Amino acid sequence: MRCSFLFAAGALVSSALASPLTSHAVHERRSTLPHGWEKREALDRRAVMPMRIALTQRNIDKGYNFLEEVSHPDSPRYGQHWTAKQVANMFRASDVTIKAVKTWLAESGISSDRVSLSQGLNWLNFDATVDEAEALLKTKYYVYAHTESGQPHVACEGYSLPTHIKRHVDFVTPTVYFDAKIRAREENEDELRKRGIGNSIGQPGSRSGHGSYPKFGKWMHHNDIITQLRNCSNQTVPICLHALYRFPWLEEANPQNSFGIVEYTPQAYVPSDLDLFFANFSYRQVGDRPILDAIDGGILQQTNMSFVYNGESDLDLEYGMALVYPVPVTLYQAGDIVQGASFNNFLDAIDSTYCSYEGGDDPTQDGIYPDPYCNATNGLTGCYTGPENCGGYSATKVISTSYAYNEHDLTPFYEMRQCNEYMKLGVMGVSVLYSSGDYGVAGNLGQCINPNGTYNDGTNGRFNPSFPGTCLYVTSIGATQVIPGTNAVKALASGTEPEEACQTIIYSGGGFSNVFPLPPYQASAVHDWFANYPPPYGPDRFNNSQQTRGFPDISANGANYVVAVDGRFALVYGTSASTPTVGAILTLINNERFNHGKTSIGFINPTLYAHPEVLNDITLGGNQGCGTPGFSSAPGWDPVTGLGTPNYPKMKDLFLGLP
Ligand SMILES: *[C@@H]1O[C@H](CO)[C@@H](O)[C@H](O)[C@H]1NC(C)=O
Ligand SMILES: *[C@@H]1O[C@H](CO)[C@@H](O)[C@H](O)[C@H]1NC(C)=O
Ligand SMILES: *[C@@H]1O[C@H](CO)[C@@H](O)[C@H](O)[C@H]1NC(C)=O
Ligand SMILES: *[C@@H]1O[C@H](CO)[C@@H](O)[C@H](O)[C@H]1NC(C)=O
Ligand SMILES: *[C@@H]1O[C@H](CO)[C@@H](O)[C@H](O)[C@H]1NC(C)=O
Ligand SMILES: *[C@@H]1O[C@H](CO)[C@@H](O)[C@H](O)[C@H]1NC(C)=O
Ligand SMILES: *[C@@H]1O[C@H](CO)[C@@H](O)[C@H](O)[C@H]1NC(C)=O
Repeated sequence: MRCSFLFAAGALVSSALASPLTSHAVHERRSTLPHGWEKREALDRRAVMPMRIALTQRNIDKGYNFLEEVSHPDSPRYGQHWTAKQVANMFRASDVTIKAVKTWLAESGISSDRVSLSQGLNWLNFDATVDEAEALLKTKYYVYAHTESGQPHVACEGYSLPTHIKRHVDFVTPTVYFDAKIRAREENEDELRKRGIGNSIGQPGSRSGHGSYPKFGKWMHHNDIITQLRNCSNQTVPICLHALYRFPWLEEANPQNSFGIVEYTPQAYVPSDLDLFFANFSYRQVGDRPILDAIDGGILQQTNMSFVYNGESDLDLEYGMALVYPVPVTLYQAGDIVQGASFNNFLDAIDSTYCSYEGGDDPTQDGIYPDPYCNATNGLTGCYTGPENCGGYSATKVISTSYAYNEHDLTPFYEMRQCNEYMKLGVMGVSVLYSSGDYGVAGNLGQCINPNGTYNDGTNGRFNPSFPGTCLYVTSIGATQVIPGTNAVKALASGTEPEEACQTIIYSGGGFSNVFPLPPYQASAVHDWFANYPPPYGPDRFNNSQQTRGFPDISANGANYVVAVDGRFALVYGTSASTPTVGAILTLINNERFNHGKTSIGFINPTLYAHPEVLNDITLGGNQGCGTPGFSSAPGWDPVTGLGTPNYPKMKDLFLGLP
C-alpha cells in the first residue's frame, strides 16, 4: 500500500477492547527484509489503515483432482473441460468462512457495520487504527523506506491469526508484502551494456520478473545469415526447429485454434522487424500482425528502441507467428508505460472471477488501474485512466509467457493464489507455459540466496528457483542447444540426439521449489532421478526432500536464435526463445485435435510424465549457478531439461489417441 494515512479524529481509540482468549499461530512471516528496504520508525498509533482480508475459497483443496480428471490420459473424463461458470461456482468462498471471519472481527472489537464484503464474496475490507490492527494480528507495524527512491511503505514482518480462523484466511494486507510500487530508477543503456545486455534490471515500469529477458549474443551481418539447414548449430532459424522437432508447416488453420503470447510494457514488438524477419524466413507473412488484446493500457511503445525494449517481444512474435502460420496469434500486451503490469493483471483480464478471488490483486505487488501516478506535480504522463481489465478478453488455448520472477521474491500465499488460477485455466482446457529462467540453478541476474535470506552475487548460497515455473499447474520450459559442431540433420537421420542442455550464454533454469509440493504426476520421475543420479548437494543448497516440485517439465532449443531487432539481425539466447517454440508446437497439436472434433490438450503435464517416450530425452549438459556446476542432464527426467524436447509425430499421435 502507499502511504496515505487518514488520522483518526479525536482521542486515541481505547485499547481496552476485550480480546477473547484464543490461541494464535503465525500465519505469514518474513525472515528478512527484501533487498533495498530498511526499517524506519513505528507508526502513529492513531493512523488508520485500510485492512483487507483474503478469504479462502471453497474446494480449492480438490483443485488437483479436478484438473487431473480432465488432463490425465487414463481418466475417462479426459478432455471434458469446464466452462468458466462451472469453475466460478465450484470455488467461491463459503458462507461458513465469511461468517467465521466476521464473527472473529466483531469479537475483536471491529463491529460488522465497519466491515464490507467484496462483490466476489472473497474479500473483507475495513479501516482500522494501527492499535487495532496490531492487537488483531499480534504484530507491530513500521514505516519502511526504499533506500533508492526514499519511498515509504507500511508493513510488518510477521503476523498471527487465531488457530480456528487460519483455515478461513489466505492472507491479510497490509502485512508482510513488500514489493511496493516503486518506479524503477531509469537506467541508461550504457550502464545496462556494461553489465551485459539482457541483465535488464531497472526496466522502467516492468513488474513481471526483472532480468528474465532473452540474452543478446551479437549483431549479424547480412552475409552471415544462412537460411540453410546445414548450419543449425551456429544459427537457429525456423527451419531448424521444424527439423529438430519434426513438425510440419500447417496447410490450414482450424478456425477454433489460437495461440496467445503475453508481453509486458514497455517491452514492445516493432512492426518493421516482423516484416524483416518474415521476408527472410516466412515470406508469406510479410504484413502479418498479431491480434492485439491491450490490457490495462497496454501499448506498443515505439519511443524507446533497443534490444532491451524490443528483444523479447520481437523474438516471441517472430517465432511464435512463423511457427504456427496460418493460425492467428493473439498478443496480450499488459500494462501502461508508467506502472507496467504483473501476471495477476494479465490473469484478471482473461478471468473476471480472478479479480476478486481470494481478495483480488495485491495492491502492493500488482498494477493498480486506473493508474493513480500521473499528476501535474510530478509531471508523469501516459497513465492509463480506464478501469482495470476484468475478464475483458478470452483466453487462447495455449498461452506462452517468457517472463518470470524468482520464487523467493514473493510470498508463498501470493504464489499459491496465482498458482490456483493456473489450475483453473487448466480445468478450462488452457495450456499455460512459462520459461524456467536463464541462470541455471541461480535466479534472475544470477543471484543466489544467503542463509539469512538475502541475495548475493551468485558465487555461493542456496539455489534460487523461478516462479511461476515451480507452480505445479504450469508447464515449465527449459533450454537446449545443438551440440556445438554437430550437423543436426545428419545426427537426426542417423537416430542420434543432436541436442544437449543449453550452455552458451545462458543456462537452463531448473531445480526444486521451496514452496510447492511434489505433484503426483511427477513423483516417480523425481524419485527415479534422485535414486539413479543422486545430486552432489545437500539441503544447504536446495530442498532435497523429494517432496517438492521439480522443474522444468520439458525443454526446447534456446540458443543462437536469429531475430530481427530494430532493423538488424541479432543472435539471441534464452528460455525466452524455447517457450514460444513449445507453445507453437502445442498449438499445432491442438489444430490436429480440433480437426478431429476433439477438445484442446489443456494441461499437458500428466500426459507427458505418463508418456515420456514422446519426448527426445536430453542427457548431456548441466545448469551451473551459485558457484556450482548445477545439476546434470541424465536419462529420463532431470532438473535441467525436464523430460526432453518435443518429438512432434509421437506427441501428435499420443494426443490424437486420447478422447
Ligand atoms: C533479409 O534481411 C536482410 C537484412 O539482413 C535484408 O536486407 C533483406 O532484404 C531481407 N530479405 C528479404 C527477402 O527481404
Ligand atoms: C555455418 O555458417 C558459418 C558462416 O556462414 C560458417 O563459417 C560455418 O562453417 C558454418 N558451419 C557449418 C557447420 O556448416
Ligand atoms: C525512454 O527512455 C527515456 C530516457 O532514458 C526515459 O526517460 C523514458 O522513461 C523511457 N520510456 C519508457 C517507455 O521506458
Ligand atoms: C502526485 O503523485 C505522486 C506519486 O507519483 C504523489 O506522491 C504526490 O503526492 C502526487 N501529488 C499530487 C498533488 O497529487
Ligand atoms: C546476510 O548474510 C550475508 C552473507 O551471508 C551478509 O553479507 C549480509 O550482510 C546479511 N544481511 C543481513 C541483513 O543480515
Ligand atoms: C559455428 O559453430 C562452430 C561450433 O559449433 C564454431 O566452431 C564456429 O566458429 C561457428 N562459426 C561461426 C561463423 O560462428
Ligand atoms: C523441503 O520441503 C519440505 C516439504 O515442503 C519441507 O517439509 C522441508 O522443511 C523443506 N526442507 C528444507 C531444507 O527447506
